Amino acid sequence: MARVLITGSSDGLGLAAGQRLIDQGHEVVLHARSDARADDTRGAAPGAAAVLVGDLSSDEQTRALADAANASGRFDAVVHNAGVGSGSAGLLAVNVLAPYLLTALLRRPDRLVYLSSGMHRSGRADLAQLDHPSYGDTKLIDAALAAAVARRWPDVLSNAVDPGWIATRMGGAGAPGGLEEGAATQVWLAVGDDPGATVSGRYLKDLREERPAPGVTDERFQDALLDELARRTGVPLPE
Ligand SMILES: NC(=O)c1ccc[n+]([C@@H]2O[C@H](COP(=O)([O-])OP(=O)(O)OC[C@H]3O[C@@H](n4cnc5c(N)ncnc54)[C@H](OP(=O)(O)O)[C@@H]3O)[C@@H](O)[C@H]2O)c1
Repeated sequence: MARVLITGSSDGLGLAAGQRLIDQGHEVVLHARSDARADDTRGAAPGAAAVLVGDLSSDEQTRALADAANASGRFDAVVHNAGVGSGSAGLLAVNVLAPYLLTALLRRPDRLVYLSSGMHRSGRADLAQLDHPSYGDTKLIDAALAAAVARRWPDVLSNAVDPGWIATRMGGAGAPGGLEEGAATQVWLAVGDDPGATVSGRYLKDLREERPAPGVTDERFQDALLDELARRTGVPLPE
């Protein structure tokens, strides 16, 4: 049994991954933006061990979430799933700064999974865009962050996932994919024992590795990204 934290798990892919892991018998800690959303989350996933609260658009609440998560015990796996599709401030805070801060502040797990997107291919590996990123920019950064952490922490399995175009609030009702298939790769990387699930520094879709856009695997960009995120947050990634 693994102990797994999933950010942004009130709805959509995060909730679906949580429900799947609970069904498999894992100890799953979910996360919601507010007390009201935490109530909704407990209703949707009554088997969750706990639901932590924190609005990831707030630096202060993100740090408090890391403290609360650490106080609850170390996680075997953390899935950085929370994300927004638009709004400059939210894109930077929720899609970029929050996963970085939580990575740097949480007790180091054995496995890290970062939700990227096929739309990272339209993103720019250019830190000058960070104050006004597009969605694609932030998803390129999430994939580069996963790869950067994999290099810095060889003892941790750190990977990025494209879940496919899935019918959620973000994906829209007309999306071709269902929640089951959209959550499968994250769940597999979080707890699976197959050789394909115990890789690191990779980008996966549908349980298979894909080659991401060149910026993701550019080690100079990865190092510059970690430096910039450390500078902005004041929290360097621990050695
Ligand atoms: N759906 C797709 O087609 C697709 C494709 C590629 C990648 N992705 C990625 O998959 C991940 C999950 O997306 P989804 O489709 O499941 O989206 P979703 O249905 O909109 O769910 C997003 C989740 O993140 C939470 N969240 C958003 N802002 C937050 C904040 N400030 N603080 C705390 N929690 C916050 C939401 O909470 P509330 O419910 O309270 O807002 C919700 O639980 C995202 O990272 C997204 O970029 C999705």
